[in-house]
Amino acid sequence: MIVTEGLTKVFKNFRRPPVTAVDNINYSVDEGTIFGYLGPNGAGKTTTIKMISTILPPTSGTARVCGYDIIKQPLEVKKRIGLMPENSGFYGNLTGLNVLMYYGEFYGKPKKVRRQRSLELLEDIGLGDAIYRKVKNYSHGMRKRLTFCVALFNEPDLLILDEPTSGLDPQGTYEFRNRIRSLSNEGITIFLSSHLLTEVEQICDMVGIIHQGKIVDSGSIDYLQKKIEGSSTEMTVAFQMDDVADEVLSSFGEMDGIKAAQKVGKEYFFRVDSKKRIPEVNNELVRNKIGVYSINVKHVSLEDIYLNLTGGGGK
Ligand SMILES: Nc1ncnc2c1ncn2[C@@H]1O[C@H](COP(=O)(O)OP(=O)(O)O)[C@@H](O)[C@H]1O
Ligand SMILES: [Mg+2]
Repeated sequence: MIVTEGLTKVFKNFRRPPVTAVDNINYSVDEGTIFGYLGPNGAGKTTTIKMISTILPPTSGTARVCGYDIIKQPLEVKKRIGLMPENSGFYGNLTGLNVLMYYGEFYGKPKKVRRQRSLELLEDIGLGDAIYRKVKNYSHGMRKRLTFCVALFNEPDLLILDEPTSGLDPQGTYEFRNRIRSLSNEGITIFLSSHLLTEVEQICDMVGIIHQGKIVDSGSIDYLQKKIEGSSTEMTVAFQMDDVADEVLSSFGEMDGIKAAQKVGKEYFFRVDSKKRIPEVNNELVRNKIGVYSINVKHVSLEDIYLNLTGGGGK
């Protein structure tokens, strides 16, 4: 559905060094998937989205979207995609219905069809009460819904959503996620950007993690979860060190699956290759009659993997 070939965007700033917002991305998103484009603020998500939606020309490289080249056949691409931008400006004096009618005209639909489709969408997306209300009086959540209606107007094959739930309350977010799932069940491919791992984990089946303009990891949610199982677990055990013979302490380091074992102050620290080692270490402590007064276990989470890949914070 989307295939990028060396897709790159460099912003040349006046009197400041250029910024490579998207750096040679080669990636493909399969038809029928819900793809999560995950990365911290400033990673290059919006810039990628603008390029694949033909709003912004790449500095180099290209992409095929719905089978068409974004540079050579932008109109063919535009006809098949629905874009929900991060922020959208509407003329405040238009009503919700006016806005959709306006976009419908843009798509060349006859007036009757436009009106029918607009009313259906507004009703369906939960703006039924606000059809004739001016957009300047809409709440943030209502504007997001309206933007979503615009994205859906032309019955797209590919729906591109840039941080769709940002600023929504939990109820709005929940409804939104359900809607995305049902659109996916209807066969629409979904490309969704987010800086929230939990969001991507909950709705997407494939993920690409972007950091400083580059894809640093990608695959299915299952793949990422398997990665966790393969990562190490840390456990810290506190016991009265003086009561334990040195040979016993060093024997821990020789157990199967122990990647590291060392004294840290008055506590003992283990890094084990999987969580199934925890009961094994525990049994060994009991066998040696070591009086344990606390055990702390830290499992690696998807969040840890994400933070590790992206260095934590955004810009
Ligand atoms: N029009 C622009 N001019 C200069 N730099 C830009 C422009 N748009 C984005 N950038 C820079 O490109 C990088 C990526 O931005 P963006 O794609 O908006 O990231 P994200 O959507 O992941 O938060 C950032 O460093 C941002 O400051
Ligand atoms: Mg963005």
